[in-house]
Amino acid sequence: MPQFDVAWVRSQFPALSRTVNGRPAAYLDGPGGTQTPRGVLDAVHEYLVDHNSNVHGFFATTQETDRIILDARAAMADMFGCRPDEVSFGANMTTLCFMLAQSLAHSLSPGDQVLITEIDHEGNRGPWLRLAERGVLVREVPVHTSTCTLDLEALERMAHEGRTKVIAANYASNAVGTISDVKRIADIARRVGALSVVDAVHYALHGPIDVRAIGCDVLLCSAYKFFGPHVGVMYVRGEVAEHVDALRLRTQEPTPPDKFETGTLNHEGIAGTTAAVDFIAEMGRRNTDLVEAQVPAGLDGRRREIVAGMLANEAYEQPLARYLTSELADTRGVTLYGPPTGHPRTSTVSFTVDGYTAMEVARTLGERGLFVWDGHFYAVRLVERLGLIESGGLVRVGLCPYTTREELERLLDAVRSLATSVR
Ligand SMILES: Cc1ncc(COP(=O)(O)O)c(C=O)c1O
Repeated sequence: MPQFDVAWVRSQFPALSRTVNGRPAAYLDGPGGTQTPRGVLDAVHEYLVDHNSNVHGFFATTQETDRIILDARAAMADMFGCRPDEVSFGANMTTLCFMLAQSLAHSLSPGDQVLITEIDHEGNRGPWLRLAERGVLVREVPVHTSTCTLDLEALERMAHEGRTKVIAANYASNAVGTISDVKRIADIARRVGALSVVDAVHYALHGPIDVRAIGCDVLLCSAYKFFGPHVGVMYVRGEVAEHVDALRLRTQEPTPPDKFETGTLNHEGIAGTTAAVDFIAEMGRRNTDLVEAQVPAGLDGRRREIVAGMLANEAYEQPLARYLTSELADTRGVTLYGPPTGHPRTSTVSFTVDGYTAMEVARTLGERGLFVWDGHFYAVRLVERLGLIESGGLVRVGLCPYTTREELERLLDAVRSLATSVR
């Protein structure tokens, strides 16, 4: 039976050699940002040494920079399953989303409705909530707090033909790992004539994306969550992009994808983004045997390798996540928060420990070289709805293709010893 080559993956990440208080660092903070493989480090370095320039000039480095940006659009198009001219870059997901919401604001009237969700990160809520200042009615699709899943029946009832102009929801929750049915959400949006905006920032590390199969109008993510540099990436469906009155300078190209890209971009980050996609494709090439049967027919080239890479990653992470959740579930004093068994989820696992705040747990684990995050992770509405804001929120463990079973054993030992010494 073929095995996921975790040793090869780990060999690509120089950061993994770090130690903390004599113990190897275990980077279980992937949902906050992944570590960087050598190919990405080299691409950023090479850009700054060999190609550093502004764009659209008539000498070697500027022309190379134009090429590097086009290459990155092609790489992200392979990752999303779209055309390169449907891919725009920006500072990060939040900035791109603000820009999009303010651009759309011109076409919205008081009384128009925008639907956001209670499960989303503020990056896909705040930019839309600001539209309330213009008289737009911003309503929240509720979350079922017992299962950490979205109430899509409520969304069906809340979406009104003609009145609902945007439905913004995440693909996966960065706080509890729930994967939402974004195809159904995009279908609802299409039925009522609304624009569907999918935040794939958390999902992008955990599964293949196919914007055509989802049928969404916009999809946003951030390269630093899938091994790349700090760069935001936005897909806007071609026909939609043509009509958005983008916030842009008169000196800026009026056509997509450039019209969404204000100012000088992070060229070295964009060069690194291509390398991050190529790293995922390399994971796919190395693990073809593992996922061959699951790769949809009709894909070829790098797109096929990326899909294989993400499927291989899932095949590796999901059993590890199941092991972690079942061990934590059996630990007295630990309460897990996340979707029920069988519901689609990423390998991100969140919990609380009786007698300790999340910050205290994260600090204790941090001292042992176990890097986990605590609090609300900007998914503040969800953590409020779970009733955990006052008590300090959740402890979040994020798995990646470089996570090992040994790291999880170390984490479980540390959590068990905390849980059994309740103050
Ligand atoms: C689900 C989700 N959406 C949006 C964001 C915001 O992304 P960015 O930091 O690129 O603005 C994050 C960041 O953690 C996230 O996890």
